Amino acid sequence: MKPFPKKAVAQLVSYRPALGKVADTKPIRLSANEGALGWSPLVEDALRKGPVQLNHYNLPQSADLHEAIAERYDLDAKRILTANGSDELIGLICLAYLEDDDEAIHTQYGFLVFPQATIIAGGKPVVADDGANLTVSVDNILAAVSARTKIVFLANPNNPTGTLIDEAEVRRLHAGLPSSVILVLDWAYAEYVRDGMSYGARMVEAHDNVVMFRTFSKMHGLAAQRLGWGYFPDEIRDVLASIRPPFSINSIASTLGIAAVQDVDFQEQSISHNEKWQKAFPARMAELGYRVLPTWANFFLIDFSASSNASHNGPDAKTALQFMAERHILLREMTPYRLDDYLRMSIGTDDEMEQVLAAFAALKGAK
Ligand SMILES: Cc1ncc(COP(=O)(O)O)c(C=O)c1O
Repeated sequence: MKPFPKKAVAQLVSYRPALGKVADTKPIRLSANEGALGWSPLVEDALRKGPVQLNHYNLPQSADLHEAIAERYDLDAKRILTANGSDELIGLICLAYLEDDDEAIHTQYGFLVFPQATIIAGGKPVVADDGANLTVSVDNILAAVSARTKIVFLANPNNPTGTLIDEAEVRRLHAGLPSSVILVLDWAYAEYVRDGMSYGARMVEAHDNVVMFRTFSKMHGLAAQRLGWGYFPDEIRDVLASIRPPFSINSIASTLGIAAVQDVDFQEQSISHNEKWQKAFPARMAELGYRVLPTWANFFLIDFSASSNASHNGPDAKTALQFMAERHILLREMTPYRLDDYLRMSIGTDDEMEQVLAAFAALKGAK
């Protein structure tokens, strides 16, 4: 007999991000929803000063980091729990609250880490179909709730579609859930929404069954540092803190996170840059004959479906992916999401966006 993992893990279809092959040393990587503008100069300064004590364990939680986050976003520092990316928080909430086929609802085109974490924990993922325009349907989520439902995952703006539902819809979703169900507000892209969607924090403060997850991986440009945080009702925070590996955030990440969250100028530049391309890219792609879906995040879905192509005889998604890869432009294929006719593309720097637009023009010419 050889060692054998538990059934749920043995049967898991593992979702691993396909960042794209690095064909040369400097690809234009637009495959992972990363921040376009790199990282803040304050982070760069903090990095150069460096951590002082490499041989000592870091503190399990950095009070300074919690304070910095609380100050920036007008929060109660005691409700914050930081983690090794918000991915870790998704895993922890499943491990803590799901057992024996308990159900966790995720949306049809929602983030694939949700069902994966559900299965690993021993729970059962339940899909709520999206409504029109690849947008979350609150009615379908509420219809999917059963006596076994323990968690509802909502990414808003949603990855990979870039769609958003408004505050009234999110509150209607919460109002329709039993109080025993945890509503996870995954606000990974909230920084890119002009008002910051602070109502999510107010919902957490007002209810015992709402949590909000945030990340330093997107606008703050610290994806490689693995730093995320959540805002919680006291009890849920304590439960997750009790099972989180004690040292899951390294001291460099904590130090850089403080600098990042304090640099409001860099955040403002990032939002403005994002807003500029949120408008300009779909418009310029339309001139070339491509259909790009509107987005509230820092990435787009580009539609290569036959119906979209019918009017302009365009390439299919696979051809486009390959064509771009040959030019060292990395986009993300959407087959794991069953959106085979789409490619996802992050917003890059001005220069990168111009190069991508030129490549799409060339692709049309090549057809
Ligand atoms: C919706 C959503 N939630 C969470 C994450 C994970 O972010 P982190 O890098 O903090 O683990 C991502 C990353 O792509 C995401 O798209």
